[in-house]
Amino acid sequence: MIIGLTHLHSALRWVALILLVITVIGAFTGSGSFTEGARKRGLFTMIALHVQLVVGLALYFLGQNGVALFKQPDVMSNGVLRFFAVEHLTGMLVAIVFATLGHSLAKRATTDQSKYRKQQIWFTFALILIVASIPWPFRPGFEAYGWF
Ligand code: HEM
Ligand code: HEM
Repeated sequence: MIIGLTHLHSALRWVALILLVITVIGAFTGSGSFTEGARKRGLFTMIALHVQLVVGLALYFLGQNGVALFKQPDVMSNGVLRFFAVEHLTGMLVAIVFATLGHSLAKRATTDQSKYRKQQIWFTFALILIVASIPWPFRPGFEAYGWF
């Protein structure tokens, strides 16, 4: 169950990242009226991230690499343990809030230009934070974590 969820969570990163990149590109290249396509790109990105959030929360509270790490005495001094106990969760939570804001504020904005602007700002922040908070296998100490 946990192994399956880990694989799902690991693979879903690509769905979320690709949608996010498409949304950011669309937000910066869009002009004129705010299209239904632009709105849906933001919505689908947000949904992918919310699904990732639910799977991540399950892993965090039920798996070995979340709250369970606080039982280990070196949880704060060991960079990898601290990453999964604190940094990944915090970074991703904030990023998902940003992406949700990007969709919601774009929906509420009154002009087409300001709708694109809200998407540009918030989805870009979310993208940067997510790329920075992924346990990429090229990061020292994270070689055991795969690309998928
Ligand atoms: C821990 C779980 C979740 C939390 C805390 C959460 C939180 C939120 C929040 C705060 C909003 C409000 C956005 C707004 O209208 O300003 C929202 C909207 C939404 N969420 Fe989630 N969500 C969760 C899980 C999910 C899941 C699993 C899905 C879908 C599979 C989902 C899909 C949506 C959709 C479709 C919207 C509405 C988007 C719109 O306004 O058009 N969420 N969620
Ligand atoms: C955009 C959002 C997120 C992305 C792209 C993402 C991505 C990843 C990736 C790539 C891994 C490594 C999986 C592997 O190969 O073993 C991982 C692990 C993990 N993530 Fe996330 N994550 C996200 C959000 C979250 C959130 C919000 C939480 C918790 C609330 C969370 C909790 C975890 C946990 C506990 C693990 C360790 C799983 C294990 O090895 O047991 N993630 N995440």
